[in-house]
Amino acid sequence: MANYLVTGANRGIGLEYCRQLRQRGERVIAVCRQTSPELDALDVQREAGIELSDAASTAELTKRLDGEQLNGVILNAGILQSMGLVDLDPEGIRRQFEVNALAPLLLARSLVPLMPPGSKLALMTSRMGSIEDNSSGGSYGYRMSKVALNIAGKSLAIDLAPRGIAVAILHPGLVRTRMIQFNPSGISPEQSVRGLLARIDALSPVNSGTFWHANGEVLPW
Ligand SMILES: NC(=O)c1ccc[n+]([C@@H]2O[C@H](COP(=O)([O-])OP(=O)(O)OC[C@H]3O[C@@H](n4cnc5c(N)ncnc54)[C@H](OP(=O)(O)O)[C@@H]3O)[C@@H](O)[C@H]2O)c1
Repeated sequence: MANYLVTGANRGIGLEYCRQLRQRGERVIAVCRQTSPELDALDVQREAGIELSDAASTAELTKRLDGEQLNGVILNAGILQSMGLVDLDPEGIRRQFEVNALAPLLLARSLVPLMPPGSKLALMTSRMGSIEDNSSGGSYGYRMSKVALNIAGKSLAIDLAPRGIAVAILHPGLVRTRMIQFNPSGISPEQSVRGLLARIDALSPVNSGTFWHANGEVLPW
């Protein structure tokens, strides 16, 4: 049994990570701002009341985790605010940068001491953070924040290699969650997380720092 920590665990893709990890017998630490009936129904350790963009709150989380060993850390929480050139919202751009890029980097840094050699760090990014794949423009804040997360992930892969920690930079596909108003053209969280966990299982020092689609495709930067 391995010990996994998942952020954004109360709903969407994070909740599904918790469900599937429990189903296969792993121990799960589910981090969220507020728990949900769906999360409460799972046999997981809930760490609620954690606002990931607040330094005091994440310090409280690391204090609560004192003595834990984490074999897998899945930094999944994120926000999407759609905006184009005409409705650019500088505060929204800053907020997405803070939650989607800066918060996971800072949390990764504070959790690394709990991660033994052989452990894995998964960052939930988006294909929207691929410069080469950007054929539709727009989505300024979200795209900028995910590019920033991607480059942080690549540096983390290099910096954590000597500690034996491998890093995956993962796109879940278009997934029917609240983030995309449950768009029916998305795949189910079940299908997405099956693929994402296959990527995390296959993650090793050799392929650390790769940007993958949940379906196994390597994505361009
Ligand atoms: N769905 C897609 O099609 C899609 C595509 C590409 C990438 N992604 C990425 O996949 C990840 C999960 O997305 P999702 O679809 O599951 O989204 P979601 O259903 O909107 O869930 C987002 C999760 O992040 C949490 N969160 C947001 N801001 C937070 C903060 N400041 N502090 C703590 N928790 C916070 C939310 O908690 P609250 O309930 O408290 O708000 C929620 O648990 C995100 O990083 C997203 O960018 C999703």
